[in-house]
Amino acid sequence: MWVEHWSKTHQRPFYACVETGERRWDAPNTAPAISEGYDSVIGAAGAETDELAMKTLRTFHNAVKRALITFASAGRTGLRVMDVCCGKGGDMHKWRPYAQEVHGFDGARECVAEATRRAQVTGNGSPCVFRYVVHDARRDKPAAWASLFGEETHAAYDVVSAQFCVHYFFSSRDLALHFFRRCRESTLPGGTMIMTYVDEEVLSRRLFPASNSDDVPSEGSAPDDVPSEGSAPDDLCRLTTTVPKRAAVPYPYVFGLAGCVPDLAEHAIPREVLRGVLRDTGWDITRDETLLAFAEASCPTVPSDPRVLRVSGLYRVGVLTAC
Ligand SMILES: C[S@@+](CC[C@H](N)C(=O)[O-])C[C@H]1O[C@@H](n2cnc3c(N)ncnc32)[C@H](O)[C@@H]1O
Repeated sequence: MWVEHWSKTHQRPFYACVETGERRWDAPNTAPAISEGYDSVIGAAGAETDELAMKTLRTFHNAVKRALITFASAGRTGLRVMDVCCGKGGDMHKWRPYAQEVHGFDGARECVAEATRRAQVTGNGSPCVFRYVVHDARRDKPAAWASLFGEETHAAYDVVSAQFCVHYFFSSRDLALHFFRRCRESTLPGGTMIMTYVDEEVLSRRLFPASNSDDVPSEGSAPDDVPSEGSAPDDLCRLTTTVPKRAAVPYPYVFGLAGCVPDLAEHAIPREVLRGVLRDTGWDITRDETLLAFAEASCPTVPSDPRVLRVSGLYRVGVLTAC
């Protein structure tokens, strides 16, 4: 299994084979670069699988993000927002009622081009300004994300949003520290960060179904509603790894969402590792719960399709406060 890492010295990705330790600069055919992987699926809509289930999943996750954005906005308007790893800018409508300015970046060029196209339509006639640029969050420079948009200030944003992306920053603890530190530096004191991230305990039960006995049960009731763990032939997502159980923390695994996201290497984030990184980078945890528990409390409906629940059951929702 090839995994994408980041060279701090050369400020570019490199690839390492988990089994042999071999390293190379170019992405192997079997493991596309993360940015190329996302660019390759622009416009894809669940072609390989049950389109209705995939639409249900997308609609549901959009509803969860809308509820999270509403919670983070806390009745305020005129917010300045940083949407890190913004993808195709799918959250811009959700921010529009609360924000005066949304800045976003992503490493995938085609995704940013699509976000910029959408911003011209969505921003037209709206008091909110949307701007998106190509940038890799792992880069050291510029020192302040706001300077990607012509501002020199560091703490420029009321809210930083990182949706379905933080698993890309855990190929090492150092990279995770760098990422969350930069998120913290970008946020005004008392400001908010919201994120959706993979629940390592659920992931571990799926990847290592034969060795569950020493797993700590997940918090909350929602994961119990998800059908039994282990691989199911009609899953919407593919999960694989070649490492023995939790061999190295955070351990690498491969995630693919049929027809939408090609197989890409991600990194498991045990909750205690994440909490340590957050503490060390100046974040207080205001909320941390399973995506399904959050949805049950905050969304109008939760889908009943077990395949959708198996994907959604992989995630948690976090709300952080800059201390
Ligand atoms: C699952 S998508 C989520 C997109 C968007 N946040 C959403 O919720 O719709 C993950 C995104 O993270 C981006 N990404 C991953 N690693 C990145 C990095 N190091 N720098 C910038 N973007 C990155 C990918 O290109 C992709 O668009």
